[in-house]
Amino acid sequence: MTEAIERPYCFELADKLEADRDLTDEEFAAVLLCDAPGFDEYLAQKARNVREKYYGKTVYLRGLIEFTNYCKNNCYYCGIRRGNTNAERYRLSEEDILSCSDIGYDLGFRTFVLQGGEDPYYTDDRIVSIVSSIKKRHPDCAVTLSIGEREKESYQKFFDAGADRYLLRHETADKAHYEMLHPDELSFDHRMQCLRDLKEIGYQVGCGMMVGSPYQTTEHLVKDLRFLKDFKPEMVGIGPFIPHHDTQFADCKAGTVEMTIRLLAIIRLMLPDVLLPATTALGTIDPQGREKGMLAGANVVMPNLSPVDVRGKYLLYDNKICTGDEAAECIRCMTARISWTGYEVSVERGDHVDFKENTKTY
Ligand code: SAM
Ligand code: FES
Repeated sequence: MTEAIERPYCFELADKLEADRDLTDEEFAAVLLCDAPGFDEYLAQKARNVREKYYGKTVYLRGLIEFTNYCKNNCYYCGIRRGNTNAERYRLSEEDILSCSDIGYDLGFRTFVLQGGEDPYYTDDRIVSIVSSIKKRHPDCAVTLSIGEREKESYQKFFDAGADRYLLRHETADKAHYEMLHPDELSFDHRMQCLRDLKEIGYQVGCGMMVGSPYQTTEHLVKDLRFLKDFKPEMVGIGPFIPHHDTQFADCKAGTVEMTIRLLAIIRLMLPDVLLPATTALGTIDPQGREKGMLAGANVVMPNLSPVDVRGKYLLYDNKICTGDEAAECIRCMTARISWTGYEVSVERGDHVDFKENTKTY
């Protein structure tokens, strides 16, 4: 007689997470720590089913324009922080940024993500001018900003100029951990306030954390998951921490592809309709990282649209991929990777489902 094989507890928890979209903190910790064979594929399969139920087979493309690597902050982990005197600094003019958006438009992008260090050169007026010019040239496109912490009035001005979405990773939901990753001049409470302000204004808001950042514990990750569940962002950007040689964390270990993929799957099950990118950092620690991410619930990729001559200067961490290719080459490569996973590139703006009706036009 064969004995019934008992399924490990974490498989039961994956079923519960799928059904309830939530777990207790202890259960989240058990899922994060589970080492049962076959568990990751079990979880990823569930995440794929949920993502396909809400978004079908489509993967949304975002054209990333890294327009400045000047930064007034000094986050301990970041290669472009102000204290890194070895970083070769650059800024793109409004004209350069608009020309990136034109090239991107012709390549099929319908979302542009303007990302940069916190660079005071880009005053509110300059950002307003850039956003409104892009919207005027390409009224059918979404503009996402990722330019760090500003006051609510500034966020309101950018929104009024046409910005649709804002990415501001919370980095870690644990205040003490936040303080281990940032100097005293940066405040956990202010970053969290920024996220609440952005939501109140009406942006589609993205937050997220680095996976495997220095001093991170399972309890910290559970707190991150609890924060995501409560805050209900429209987008979640997570990627592995990767050391940069000119930072004080140069000798720290990078986050793992396995934990990043597991978290992507958990987040998809918790927030079924969230927009979830497979990030460049994930593709940097594993050549198939972004494909693995898409097969675990991710439904967004962000090919680089920055001019090739500045690509190699926006170095947040070591060995960053896609620093040499032309935009057209990046999109060809991403399209091939997406079709390898069995998914399809979408030519739509790719708004969050709750924002489809009230899409802003200018
Ligand atoms: N300045 C803006 C901000 O702070 O939101 C946007 C640019 S910032 C460089 C974008 C993100 O890069 C950060 O939120 C952080 O999560 C990530 N990042 C920075 N250094 C990193 C590293 N060493 N490894 C992985 N991700 C990193
Ligand atoms: Fe620029 Fe952290 S170093 S925002």
